Amino acid sequence: MALKVMSVFGTRPEAIKMCPLIKELEHHKEIESIVCLTGQHREMLQQVIDIFGTKVQYNLDIMQPRQTLTTIVTSILEKLEPILIEERPDILLVHGDTSTTFAAALAAFYQKIPVGHVEAGLRTFDKYSPFPEEINRCLTGRIAELHFSPTENNRRNLANENIIENVYVTGNTVIDAFQTTIKPDYQYKDAALRNVRFEGKRCILMTAHRRENLGKPLENICRAVKRIVQEFPNIELVYPVHMNPAVRDTAVSILGDMAQVHLIKPLDVEDMHNLIARSFLVMTDSGGLQEEAPSCGIPVLVLRTETERPEAVEAGTVKVVGVKEDDIYHNAKVLLTDKGEYDKMAKSANPYGDGQASKRIVQAILDWGYNRK
Ligand code: UD1
Ligand code: UDP
Repeated sequence: MALKVMSVFGTRPEAIKMCPLIKELEHHKEIESIVCLTGQHREMLQQVIDIFGTKVQYNLDIMQPRQTLTTIVTSILEKLEPILIEERPDILLVHGDTSTTFAAALAAFYQKIPVGHVEAGLRTFDKYSPFPEEINRCLTGRIAELHFSPTENNRRNLANENIIENVYVTGNTVIDAFQTTIKPDYQYKDAALRNVRFEGKRCILMTAHRRENLGKPLENICRAVKRIVQEFPNIELVYPVHMNPAVRDTAVSILGDMAQVHLIKPLDVEDMHNLIARSFLVMTDSGGLQEEAPSCGIPVLVLRTETERPEAVEAGTVKVVGVKEDDIYHNAKVLLTDKGEYDKMAKSANPYGDGQASKRIVQAILDWGYNRK
């Protein structure tokens, strides 16, 4: 009988990193792959599903405008239960550290269904930063039976928590996705992006959305980049704004009327990956971008006080600059004015694997399933 593998995910970054894995699961006759979206995101999730052409069996469709952590988790617990009882997968796969990740893992645990955790072992060791992701991933790690860690460092973090069995260092599936999206002759699909005149200009790509940055920190970030743009006329700053209204309100109020700042809708992942590859600098609080930009040799200033991805910091491509206006401004200014400092950071670093992570994960699941029967 085929091994029944159910993948549950619900936000944009989970989809980008799970869709390549689902493709690989579907290549194996000995696996029955089922996909259940929680719909924690709606439009931003659908963009990814459409690009990868992923077949979806269930969608819990839970998203509410300005949703709270409690409603995300409770809706998923309630809506996933009957599906798990009906399907009874041999294993349920979750990804990363969102509220979908934790709630789906907990729902599976309540049905005594084993959980496989993709992108396991990332830690900042600060329970409130990123919030609530640090605790989501710790709790998911505690529940999970199989752990797929992108790097050796992630494996060590798990070992320090006495999680030693069934831990596989696989690389990150984002590199699997990444390799297929970037093309040298790529033409952007997004009309707003096509209209930006990049010729002879430097592109700064910015994203910021994290819950702990909402309010004052995001205001500081926007004020810092406003100063940078005012001082450097040769910059076009592209900020695809997350659909959270709390993010949009701040971004528009501080950066809305500047000709060099392009506040555009979320880009699909092909546009995004190609834009990263053509940027001069990335400024972000995103996790995924900290993995993607270094692989293209693009320096990243992390708009946070910590990171769970120290690998690229150690490699010199990523710098954590915090959320104070002056610190962000000065660090960006250095990279725009000091070629030596820029060149030190602009080097290709890919500590996240060889694009074969999905293959390794599927093999580990098959071996585990075989040994269990
Ligand atoms: C979530 C994850 C975060 C991840 C991020 C990726 C949690 C607690 N947070 O944060 O770890 O980094 O996704 O982007 O799981 N919205 C839309 N349409 C969409 C998506 C969002 O309108 O397609 C709006 C809704 O008003 C929604 C709000 O954005 O209520 C916030 O979405 P939510 O998933 O709660 O938080 P994120 O900040 O996206
Ligand atoms: N991304 C995208 N379009 C955008 C912004 C981000 O496709 O407009 C991609 C980005 O390349 C990365 C992922 O979404 O793969 C990161 O998602 P996000 O920043 O929302 O979440 P995080 O990684 O911080 O959890």
